[in-house]
Amino acid sequence: MLIKGVIQYAHHLLEESVSEGEIVIDATCGNGNDTLFLSKLVGDEGRVIGFDIQKEAIESTSHLLKEHKRTNMTLVHDSHAEMYKYVSSQATIGGAIFNLGYLPRSDKKIITKPESTIEAIDKILPILKRKGMIVLVVYHGHDGGKDEKKELLKHIIELDQKQYTVLRYGFINQKNNPPFILAIQKK
Ligand SMILES: C[S@@+](CC[C@H](N)C(=O)[O-])C[C@H]1O[C@@H](n2cnc3c(N)ncnc32)[C@H](O)[C@@H]1O
Repeated sequence: MLIKGVIQYAHHLLEESVSEGEIVIDATCGNGNDTLFLSKLVGDEGRVIGFDIQKEAIESTSHLLKEHKRTNMTLVHDSHAEMYKYVSSQATIGGAIFNLGYLPRSDKKIITKPESTIEAIDKILPILKRKGMIVLVVYHGHDGGKDEKKELLKHIIELDQKQYTVLRYGFINQKNNPPFILAIQKK
């Protein structure tokens, strides 16, 4: 077996924990790669709710999913912190992914922020199914990235170990602030 890269490993964790027919969340659609992955994973009976604060990201995600003839998604042009406006607080979520940082080839000043990322995580946790996972791919090399990494780790490290298993996965001999994964699994 070869060691999986961060995106590959993030998808692997979700493949192992999400079932067909479930509702899942892509908290940061960007160019739609994770939305497309989740859409296929949950199948036609499932649903992906995708969020992004940039219209451009929602449009390119919509375009990518149309290209792949996927229709089982709801794309929301709003912050993931506002998710209870779009996802019932009574719903059961099969899993979620956050790909933090900025939209590649776009404005590097529009980035995920610790307050809204943490607020969204705290909104998903109560409605996450048992054994479900929130997977975060933490990019932190850009301006503002260090701060988000610090705040996020501070928050996640405090999660009660009786209720959640928290994993950190990353490459410790890579240069230039390599991204790493944080995964929170509900027990
Ligand atoms: C690294 S990109 C995501 C890449 C994407 N998952 C893909 O597969 O292409 C991060 C995205 O998060 C979005 N974003 C930043 N703050 C956000 C927020 N509060 N709510 C939702 N999306 C946000 C940015 O606009 C950007 O498109």
